[in-house]
Amino acid sequence: MTIVLGISLSHYGSACIIVDGEVKAAVLEERLSRRKFDAGFPALSIRKVIAVAGIEPGDIDHVAVGTMCEQFDSNLAQDHEYRLATRLLSGAAYFVPLRILETAWLRKVYRAIFYTYNRWQFFRKNTSYFLDLGISPAKIKFYDHHTCHAATAYFASPWRDKVLFFTADGNGDGYCSYVGLGEGDRLETKQAISSIHSLGGLYSRATRFIGMKPWQDEYKVMGLAPWGERKKAAEEVYRKIKRMWGPHGSTYRNFCGYACNSLLAHMNRTLNNPRFDYVAYAVQRVLEETLSEWITKTMAHFQVRKIALSGGIFYNIKANKKIVEQAQPEDIFIFPAAGDESISIGAGYLGYADLRRQQGLSIDLKPITHYYWGEEIETEIEKTIAGLDTTRFEIVKSDAINDLAADLLARNQIVAVCSSRMEYGPRALGNRSILANPSDVRNIERLNNTIKRRDFWMPFALTLLDVCADRYLVNPSQLSSHYMIMGFDTRPEYRDQIIAGIHQADKTVRPQILVRSFNPPFYDLLSAFHQKTGIGALLNTSLNLHGEPMVNLPQEAIGVMLDSDLQHLVLGHYLISKRT
Ligand SMILES: [Fe+2]
Repeated sequence: MTIVLGISLSHYGSACIIVDGEVKAAVLEERLSRRKFDAGFPALSIRKVIAVAGIEPGDIDHVAVGTMCEQFDSNLAQDHEYRLATRLLSGAAYFVPLRILETAWLRKVYRAIFYTYNRWQFFRKNTSYFLDLGISPAKIKFYDHHTCHAATAYFASPWRDKVLFFTADGNGDGYCSYVGLGEGDRLETKQAISSIHSLGGLYSRATRFIGMKPWQDEYKVMGLAPWGERKKAAEEVYRKIKRMWGPHGSTYRNFCGYACNSLLAHMNRTLNNPRFDYVAYAVQRVLEETLSEWITKTMAHFQVRKIALSGGIFYNIKANKKIVEQAQPEDIFIFPAAGDESISIGAGYLGYADLRRQQGLSIDLKPITHYYWGEEIETEIEKTIAGLDTTRFEIVKSDAINDLAADLLARNQIVAVCSSRMEYGPRALGNRSILANPSDVRNIERLNNTIKRRDFWMPFALTLLDVCADRYLVNPSQLSSHYMIMGFDTRPEYRDQIIAGIHQADKTVRPQILVRSFNPPFYDLLSAFHQKTGIGALLNTSLNLHGEPMVNLPQEAIGVMLDSDLQHLVLGHYLISKRT
């Protein structure tokens, strides 16, 4: 048996355990510490994944740390803005020409200095933690950030024949993108793009320009973008941003020469105080056009039509939609926790492959089939039920719990679910979800007013029964979409059935197409709702209050009920309802 612990100290602290080529457990630090976007050393997650995987610390053969140069030691990811490397680059971009900033030798110097420094800091701060746990620090090895992203794109995909992988994010170890080939058990990087050209850097600066938090609120900018479409003034902003960044040959490039905070200053000088939705539209369009052209040309160059993607930029479901439409890949896989949540998993994969190679064993990394990698909560559910105040809550235990929940949903009630193992990434896929009837557009306002308190322009998502997906989606290539990471147009003839789960401006959707093997209880719940209403879809949003991480434990789900107007909660085989 080969056991590897993968960890990440990036935007999202996280840890995973890989046993014999398969992810057995993975947790984000924020879900345990209850601090949203918790970055830095994942002290709680490491202990948790060891327990969830049912192993002893001494069983771990190898510890793989993702990212060499930029490890956070803060709980606030936005501290990224104030890191020494970011400030140095911002300052240098004022005075040093781009052709010098992007040179390979400068990046080598950067990587050598910051890797040495971060490695020293890592062992200085964390050696005692590993010794206390019973893991020898000699087992620890560091892995390059974008190679970790690439490993999740390829090794988590269902394929082992020739696949072209793309990574893209803000910055990782001095780069913003890798392109390469995966085949068999090998990854080979063919192109690396300096982070001075980072599309993530452009998007995050635009996010800050319109008053939102960079490295966190980019999804809000994407949600806002369609509201700025078809406006003359928005087109003017688009033309200005397109002059700053865009496709260049078979890659893409920063044309304006400014980066990080100096780019923000450049935007302030040149964009003339445009409306915030116009900026969102403009930067989103530049991102979509640049990414899709880069990928289309690169696919043509390598003559490979199967692609695998990972990195925070590929959370942009609208850009993914555009990539599919323009590049027309034969098939596409996007690692579902595409952002830096993928770094611990990628490091784990690379560490596993390293170790198996050294041992002369086959590298039998398994494709992922789900991402419910959190802890089982059966015991916690029983404890929570035993401690509930029955004067405030009505408790019903039932073997037909899915039917009960479907009945409430059919009567247009909002129902939360907290059952079984938690989802790893940011999307709720039925185990930590709030569900509602998607045919009633008023449910958007009800959810926002009573529980979620999201920005008014943000769309909710849908879970679709696999047999009904064609009724709602325009999906000529029959792409699978199990993880809500791909955007689709919707068919107007059935749109009224899913109106609350689509983007109200452009009528697109980011669906989870649910097959039964993925999550049988959730499938049965949705099937029961379909039988009762004729609607093969549910509005599905994550179970949490605004500004808090997704719920992990049953007690936290009860906390959401107490702090909001959420009326009904499925906890395993129990239905909990507030007494009125
Ligand atoms: Fe990254």
